[in-house]
Amino acid sequence: MTNHSAPDRPVAGDWLALREPADAAAREDSLPLIGRLVRHWEELGASGSSGAEPVVVVDLGAGTGANRAWLARHLPGPQRWILLDHDRELLDQAVAAAREEGTEVVPVLAGVEELGRVLAEHPAARRLVTCSALLDLLTREQLRELARVLSEEAVPALLALTVDGEVLIDPPHPLDPSVLGAFEDHQHRGELAGTDAVRLAAEALRERGMVVDVVPTPWWIADQAWARPLLERFLADRADAAVEHRPDLTAEAHAWVRTRLVDCARGRLQATVGHADVLGLPPVS
Ligand SMILES: C[S@@+](CC[C@H](N)C(=O)[O-])C[C@H]1O[C@@H](n2cnc3c(N)ncnc32)[C@H](O)[C@@H]1O
Repeated sequence: MTNHSAPDRPVAGDWLALREPADAAAREDSLPLIGRLVRHWEELGASGSSGAEPVVVVDLGAGTGANRAWLARHLPGPQRWILLDHDRELLDQAVAAAREEGTEVVPVLAGVEELGRVLAEHPAARRLVTCSALLDLLTREQLRELARVLSEEAVPALLALTVDGEVLIDPPHPLDPSVLGAFEDHQHRGELAGTDAVRLAAEALRERGMVVDVVPTPWWIADQAWARPLLERFLADRADAAVEHRPDLTAEAHAWVRTRLVDCARGRLQATVGHADVLGLPPVS
């Protein structure tokens, strides 16, 4: 692993575990994107060598490895996974999880800006850059740079599960707009793309000549076995971030999360959380 400074705001590993079943269910909606990716490789004629040569997959912001765990079983043939993240602790967990299932992965402790170097170090007939739940955490400039590297290297990209800002909690609460609005503003802090990330990434890829498809992959949180702990954490995290961004909303946010958690414990809450998956393919000449 290369050396890299720790992230300012580390993502909690237990949050990644809570969201994994909701992510997996949501990704069923984007399976056609994987079909398109495979057809792209076939058109390139590289699939003839696929039996022997593994596809190199670079997972940006790999976290604890949830994207690999899901995607590896949906991609055909042998694969060599490179997991890149700027958080050493999460990356260690991802490597350990892969090893437990008998898979060796290549960890890269680095920021997304290292993608160009990583691709240069791993040439292959078929490559894929992927990520899940990452794009909203990047800046507009980082999204533009990602599109530049992908198009110059002519590498397909499957950029999964980016939040698009839609949050519908049923039944509604009068404080939903202010608390959820403050949360959304928090996601746009600094230069972060936040809930504009899907649109910005798709635009940047198209401007670079990539062929882009976007598929909605919302979370439907209702009465699934995994729903309640995910929803509780989702509500608490939104209230905390809303208060961090708008300290004047402290009383409202605390009142909101108290009521919401009681409703959740009584099994009265359902939620839809909008996400989208983006597939970017280099043009086949
Ligand atoms: C919300 S988590 C998603 C993790 C994993 N892909 C998943 O779906 O469970 C975002 C991940 O991106 C990493 N990350 C955020 N910004 C990054 C950056 N600029 N460079 C590298 N990793 C980054 C975080 O450390 C975290 O592991």
